[in-house]
Amino acid sequence: MKKSEFFFGQDIISLDQFNRKSVEKVFATASIIKKTSAKKLLKILQGKVVGLLFFEPSTRTFSSNCAAVKRLGGQTIEYQNPLLTSSVVKGETIEDTTKMIEQYCDAIVMRHPIVGTLKKVADVADIPVINAGDGIGEHPTQALLDMYTIYEKHKRLNNLKGLMVGDLLNGRTVHSLIRGLSIFPNNTIYLLSPKQLRLSEKDLEEAKRRKIKLVEIKSLDEIPPDCHFWYWTRVQKERFSDKQEYEKLKLSFILTKKLVDEKAGKNTLLMHPLPRVGEIETAVDSDQRAVYLTTEPKNGMYVRMALLKLILEK
Ligand code: NCD
Repeated sequence: MKKSEFFFGQDIISLDQFNRKSVEKVFATASIIKKTSAKKLLKILQGKVVGLLFFEPSTRTFSSNCAAVKRLGGQTIEYQNPLLTSSVVKGETIEDTTKMIEQYCDAIVMRHPIVGTLKKVADVADIPVINAGDGIGEHPTQALLDMYTIYEKHKRLNNLKGLMVGDLLNGRTVHSLIRGLSIFPNNTIYLLSPKQLRLSEKDLEEAKRRKIKLVEIKSLDEIPPDCHFWYWTRVQKERFSDKQEYEKLKLSFILTKKLVDEKAGKNTLLMHPLPRVGEIETAVDSDQRAVYLTTEPKNGMYVRMALLKLILEK
């Protein structure tokens, strides 16, 4: 996969594929789609079929991709749980499943628990493949919607001060978002996690080579003032072999109304990829700055529509 501003026929596997121009292209396309009438949009994927294969549970990413295809006039083949319902149960390899689906479809959107599987699927497939989350690896479409949400609010993606909290080791949305923000200059991200769930040494090292400054902090008290965004994440239960360890760590850092009142700036976006499992108080939901239940999922659909249009429309 090459870094390119031209999308037609491409896979979307990692934020590393993007540069400033291609990110801006996605955002410009999403903004146009947002303003276009529903009827006009239906022409874009007319006659096209997209295969959605989710080998891990999903609410938002699945329905948002599904809605994106349908709002563009396309159709879907849907496997919400291929491990129960497809020939994978009989032992079919991911390569063979991919080859089959591509006989029927124009693109594949896939989520899989194993890092690297989406790259493998993209290599096998002759049609474009979109990574909807590969284990603890990446989740590029979520990062693009997060970046679009930050961009809409602050009108830029450089010179930002952000905070990321929670399971930074296992959170694939965090891994993609850090890569995405490192495309733009002068961004500083403060990282707060239990020490067992720090960003991996490899990711910290990699960030040093990019245009992004990562600063690890140890407590909520150290959150700097006036961040442009706070990005909270859940501790990823399914990645723990020791469930007691999970129970110990799951609520290490909670986003409370009190914390928002004391530490957030008046323009700090309160973000979370969701699902939340106790790490954000529901009392925060009605705060004007909270976008996790509203703007983020809505933008997710538009950004996915933009990507599908760019990839599939000649
Ligand atoms: C995230 C994911 O699946 O990586 N959810 C999502 O797609 N919006 C985050 C998570 O599951 O914690």
